[in-house]
Amino acid sequence: MFRLMLAALACALVLKAAALPAAAMGEVEKARELAEALCAGCHLNEGQGEKQGPMGIPGFGAVANRHGQTQEGIVIWLNSAPPMMPDHKLTQDEMFALAAYIMSLRERP
Ligand code: HEC
Repeated sequence: MFRLMLAALACALVLKAAALPAAAMGEVEKARELAEALCAGCHLNEGQGEKQGPMGIPGFGAVANRHGQTQEGIVIWLNSAPPMMPDHKLTQDEMFALAAYIMSLRERP
C-alpha cells in the first residue's frame, strides 16, 4: 500500500515537471522566492483556501485551482494594479514568473 502511494506520488511529480518546459522550472523557483518575500503574508498561509467573504483573501492554491484559471488571467490581474493589493512595482517578467509559479500549484488537470 505504502509503495503504491509512493509510486503514485512519483508519477504525479513527474507529470507536474513535464508540464513545464525545463527553462521555466528555474523561473518558477525564483518566482516562488519572490512570492514568499512579497505575497506570502496575504496569500501563502497554512490551510488558506478560497477567499471568505467580500474582504477575504484567497490562497494561491485556491487561485490556481479556479475553474478556467490561466497564467494569462493572473498576469492580467497583476497588470490591473488591484487596489486591494500593495503595489509591488512588479516588472512584466516578474508578473509572468509569479503567474507561472501560482499555476504550478494547480491540482486540477
Ligand atoms: C496586503 C495583502 C496582499 C498582498 C501582500 C498581496 N495580495 Fe494578492 N490579493 C489580496 C486581496 C485582498 C485579494 C482579493 C481580491 C478580491 O478578490 O477581492 C488578492 C487577490 C489576488 C489574486 C487573485 C485575483 C483573483 O482572480 O481573484 C492574485 C493572483 C494575487 N492576489 C496575486 C498576488 C501576488 C502575486 C502578490 C505578491 C507579489 C500579492 N497578490 C500580494 C491581497 C494581497
